[in-house]
Amino acid sequence: MEQRVKGCSILRGELAPPGDKSISHRALILNSIAKGRARIENLAPGDDLGATISCLRALGVEIIEEEGMLTVSGVGREGFMEPTDVLHAGNSATTMRLLAGLLAAQPFLSIVTGDESLRARPMGRLIHPLRLMGAEIWGRGHDSQAPLVIKGNKLKGIDYRLPVASAQIKSAILIAALFARGNTTVAEPAPSRDHTERFLRAMGVKLQREGARIKLIPSAPPTPIDVCVPGDISAAAFWLVAGAIHPNAQLKVINTGINPTRSGILDVLLQMGAKLRVERERRESNEPVADVVIESSDLVGTQIGGNLIPRLIDELPLIALAGSFARGTTTIRDAQELRVKESDRIGATVRELSRLGADIDELPDGMVIRGGRKLTGGECSSHHDHRLAMTLGIAALVAQGETAIHDAEVVAMSYPNFWQDLERLTIIERG
Ligand code: S3P
Repeated sequence: MEQRVKGCSILRGELAPPGDKSISHRALILNSIAKGRARIENLAPGDDLGATISCLRALGVEIIEEEGMLTVSGVGREGFMEPTDVLHAGNSATTMRLLAGLLAAQPFLSIVTGDESLRARPMGRLIHPLRLMGAEIWGRGHDSQAPLVIKGNKLKGIDYRLPVASAQIKSAILIAALFARGNTTVAEPAPSRDHTERFLRAMGVKLQREGARIKLIPSAPPTPIDVCVPGDISAAAFWLVAGAIHPNAQLKVINTGINPTRSGILDVLLQMGAKLRVERERRESNEPVADVVIESSDLVGTQIGGNLIPRLIDELPLIALAGSFARGTTTIRDAQELRVKESDRIGATVRELSRLGADIDELPDGMVIRGGRKLTGGECSSHHDHRLAMTLGIAALVAQGETAIHDAEVVAMSYPNFWQDLERLTIIERG
């Protein structure tokens, strides 16, 4: 599908972003391992969560959807069933990697695959620690890629240092550790999103943090918990950047998660001089939540790298866009992980923003963006990457003329109503 977006003269309104995708995957998977019923409200919409739901159902978990509410009947650590067919994670690495942690401990065989993009993503980083725990797990390309074949086994705890700051790998290990004999510790090179840890603690699992190390001590099985999923800051970010770079904007994003391991985008926008206000800070299901107000801002370029990167990894294409509208240069470093996301997000962002007139160059581990150029509408492509499609949609709002975004339907992975929300918030004055 091709989506056409015209530059708009006014950007105004209030919106609630969809439920957080990372929290939603964990709410489903961890409650499936608990024994008993849990209700989940405001689950993330989109195909990625659809993949997790269908994989869990294929493993014997009952999940019922009724009036916007989901009920998961957790089967307990011993209650999963051997799937009768290959499990499909679609485009969702979170589904594949977190489920691999669970499957590694089951007394049966599972095969997990995904779409072309997911089958190209690195899985060696997942296979290696799970094998150390005793799992029998193999992958295509000398154990580096999916499909994965997992023959569950009795696992033992490990002491592991993650080679990359990845919340998916950390979570896969912690999930496997729930089934293992002995303690497991995972050390992170930089703090990544901590939703799994928050869930496990709330479910009664013994988890200790010792500096950069997280220690899981096997104890009683996790107890189910009801969850009201906060809005996704990675979805809110599109509107926050739109508001900051548009010359006539005032937007309010309500009910968005502001977990400090995810809120790097707020820090960077403030650092760039954005007129951004965080209001009504509160807690929802163990996660900090707030409303965020943004208005047109005169941005200045900034430098981003180091430990900040995992706190805004999914927002970097948007930060590159913000940098195009800032005074001076914005540099993003230490972000080589972006190359192995749903697309090579460094190459794809540079290529597509350049097509719209941005002055941007690729670095091996990031980008350099020289601000102050006007963007003009044109043809561009999402590279089948939902976050790139939405970044280009926001770029189109501030570009002169009309932009055609190819393969725009890919927003369905995480934010199926994105194009409708965009239309609702924009006013195009004619004449
Ligand atoms: C996620 C972790 C991040 C992020 C992804 C979601 C998660 O990936 O980019 O969109 O839910 O754990 P990595 O773990 O590969 O860094």
